[in-house]
Amino acid sequence: MSHWSEYAYTDPSKQYTRNLVYSVPGVFNLLLLVWNPGNESPVHDHADAHCLMKILKGSLVESRFAIPERPGEQGPLEQTSRKEFKLNQVSYMTDRLGLHSVSNPHITEHAVSLHLYTPPNAALRGCHVYDMTNGVARHVTQNVYDSVKGKVVK
Ligand code: SIN
Repeated sequence: MSHWSEYAYTDPSKQYTRNLVYSVPGVFNLLLLVWNPGNESPVHDHADAHCLMKILKGSLVESRFAIPERPGEQGPLEQTSRKEFKLNQVSYMTDRLGLHSVSNPHITEHAVSLHLYTPPNAALRGCHVYDMTNGVARHVTQNVYDSVKGKVVK
């Protein structure tokens, strides 16, 4: 059992769960994400904030994309990189580096990652997810958690 197990709520019906570990309003949010095998997040931006992601279990693949200048007119998003992060490795992402999606490449194993968002803009005002096929963005809220400080949200 790991020291973070109490936060590692899983839900097989979702791509991944978002579990709030700690927050300091206006300063940061710390989330533990549990990724179901073979699942991924949608391509998204970072609400003008910084994101650090550390792998706590398994590995995750980060795919980066250029922010489209003319969404809906340029065809599919342009992929700029693809990198696998393994146990204990840390990635950094922010809007200046483009968009990204994260996926668990393993078909049988869960992956777990710790995410620090600072400032916690997406939780306050949401972020945008992008359609891979045409670059069209839509606003989504990001203030919904599957568990908060180890307690499952019903
Ligand atoms: C990610 O960076 O792919 C995770 C996004 C989230 O916080 O849901």
